[in-house]
Amino acid sequence: MSSGTRVPCLVIALLVLGCAVSVRAQEKLAATPPMGWNSWNHFAEHVDDKTIRETADALVSTGLKDAGYIYLNIDDTWEGQRDASGIIHANEKFPDMRALADYVHGKGLKLGIYSSPGPKTCAGFEGSLGHEEQDAKTYANWGVDYLKYDWCQQPPANVDAMKAAYTKMHDALEKMGRPIVLSLCQYGWNKVWEWGPSVGGNLWRTTGDITDRYSSMAEIGFNQNGLEKFAGPGHWNDPDMLEVGNGGMNEDEYRTHFSLWAMLAAPLIAGNDLTKMTPYTVEILTNREVIAVDQDPAGKQGFRIAQEGPFEVWMKPMADGSRVVGLFNRQRTVEQMSVNFSQIGISGQGSIRDLWLKKDLGTFKDRYSAYVPAHGVVLVRISGK
Ligand code: GLA
Repeated sequence: MSSGTRVPCLVIALLVLGCAVSVRAQEKLAATPPMGWNSWNHFAEHVDDKTIRETADALVSTGLKDAGYIYLNIDDTWEGQRDASGIIHANEKFPDMRALADYVHGKGLKLGIYSSPGPKTCAGFEGSLGHEEQDAKTYANWGVDYLKYDWCQQPPANVDAMKAAYTKMHDALEKMGRPIVLSLCQYGWNKVWEWGPSVGGNLWRTTGDITDRYSSMAEIGFNQNGLEKFAGPGHWNDPDMLEVGNGGMNEDEYRTHFSLWAMLAAPLIAGNDLTKMTPYTVEILTNREVIAVDQDPAGKQGFRIAQEGPFEVWMKPMADGSRVVGLFNRQRTVEQMSVNFSQIGISGQGSIRDLWLKKDLGTFKDRYSAYVPAHGVVLVRISGK
């Protein structure tokens, strides 16, 4: 072989290697769906330094941190002005971002922040357009570990412009040499799930904003069916943050919300006031067996296997070969529902554990039936061959 052909081969090999290294870094950063808390759903523009410190304390004292909620994310409205050299500063609600990050890190947690690829954020604050590297540097200097990057310009741009904007921030963050999770927020425009990983996204919103109502949650959650092939270690579909504990749904409905998000391998980003939780809210958010469904290392997103009107049966294949099955009743009255084992690839007997009762129910043949509360769920893990 002449040296003339060896050089291009070397270049190609280095490019391939570089690409593989970057994919591996992305996978490592969010090997399972990110878990944490975000200020928007409950506090919106009222978030400040005190809120974040109190939430950090609460993450630890309530057991949420031990259950896996690690990221503490400040959403929109922290932004102040840029100085003469273009460096962004936080507004008066956040007097010392670096000290706040130190406080959060001191609790064994990670800090997240929010910006927009446009000139303004959705709440009308300073965006990152034209200052991507500068902002990435500021975030890294503060000690930020997670960035939600929210496309707020209307109308939405075409796919190439979007890809370019997200790539620009991803590359800027990567240059800082600090692992920073990149959360894309652009509501699923331009089929983001098809290109989210290629611009360095660890997660991407697939829908508009959730609200604290069963109808909003159910419409978003159940519509995720079909997106399962786009999720996996390092890159996740994000049907928006949790509303559990915010008061707009009853306990069965919040259980449905949490079960569905876990089956979807969705990021579990709590959005309630952690300093004022009922025991029931804590119990939902810290149910280890349901969290384990979400955090399963195989990283497979669940999907619908049967539907009859308001009755939906979903399945999530787990790394150990078991299947998690959700019997979801979207009707306003209790109903008996069942799963046939043939629908989940089990011929014969299956042993069943109920993940909300936290109880082994025994061995069943061919099918499992249960009464499902109105707007509720029965969530079981089934092992068998
Ligand atoms: C958009 C996002 C929300 C939140 C707000 C902040 O609506 O979808 O999650 O970040 O902007 O302004």
